[in-house]
Amino acid sequence: MKNKNQVIVITGGGRGLGALLGQRIVERGGRVALLDVNESDLSDMKLKLGAECNTWVCDVRSLPNLTAVMAEINKAFGHINCVVANAGILSLGSIEGMDPDDFQRTMDVNVTGVFNTIRASIPYLRQSHGYLQVISSLAAAIHTPLMSHYAASKAAVEALADVARQELRPDGIDVGCVHPTFTHTQMLKDAHAQGGDKLWSQHKGLFSSIEPEEVVHAMYQGIVRRERKTIVPKLLAPAIVAPGLVHWAIEKLGRLQGSEDAVQACQENEKRQPTPLKSKTKKAAA
Ligand SMILES: NC(=O)c1ccc[n+]([C@@H]2O[C@H](COP(=O)([O-])OP(=O)(O)OC[C@H]3O[C@@H](n4cnc5c(N)ncnc54)[C@H](O)[C@@H]3O)[C@@H](O)[C@H]2O)c1
Repeated sequence: MKNKNQVIVITGGGRGLGALLGQRIVERGGRVALLDVNESDLSDMKLKLGAECNTWVCDVRSLPNLTAVMAEINKAFGHINCVVANAGILSLGSIEGMDPDDFQRTMDVNVTGVFNTIRASIPYLRQSHGYLQVISSLAAAIHTPLMSHYAASKAAVEALADVARQELRPDGIDVGCVHPTFTHTQMLKDAHAQGGDKLWSQHKGLFSSIEPEEVVHAMYQGIVRRERKTIVPKLLAPAIVAPGLVHWAIEKLGRLQGSEDAVQACQENEKRQPTPLKSKTKKAAA
């Protein structure tokens, strides 16, 4: 970091990309505030990063929680230069068979959580003419089966960033949106276990997965350069720059790679596990 006194807030900083970014920032001389719902992961990070790291248990779904925590961070560090809206969740499920609560939870964390993070950051970033980085995904443009909730949430995150960029420019706040491809974190391991391995054909070709270090390097550069869009890997930039052109290709490619079999396998599994909505409907009809 050029300025050793930079303070960066990262939501979902307990593990995965958020934790690695926190580590990189501290290694480069910055200070971090890590926010997460997982207290034990936060304790591990505090132990690892030491005095330049403070942690707060915080659920991004709650605006009052985030507002209070941002005020505490500002008090503890004196200022906030950058906020990274990174917390997110992923599950797989078909539109017909998934538990509707999974859909809602994804929207609550991935969309409302990012809105809340932006909202709670504004007063402090206005004071510092700071930078706001939101983590979307290539899924914002590459829409594959079983990911309706995730893809819709990440497209919404990109839209939130685009609007925030224009609204906050007069205050000297820059806004960047990061679109990583599949990355080897716990999130991806869990998705594999839910049938993602079949869906993504063992991650070949377009769906090749990358290491978290590559994404974190790009996130860090994005912060230093106050980038508008950060696409990892850069090779996939056309998907974000001209998504309409790639939608057709994605659908064709998905069929070639056997995504229909993966959807069928997932739906058979979903039939064996009736959702609460289905059981409620049955009760109401009885
Ligand atoms: N791993 C990938 O393949 C990939 C690809 C593109 C984008 N992303 C995005 O990158 C971000 C980080 O993903 P990751 O791979 O590090 O995932 P991860 O699951 O390893 O880490 C996510 C962190 O967010 C925290 N979190 C979840 N819900 C929260 C809430 N309500 N409030 C606060 N914290 C919460 C979790 O406890 C966890 O520590 C996410 O937004 C994800 O959607 C990931």
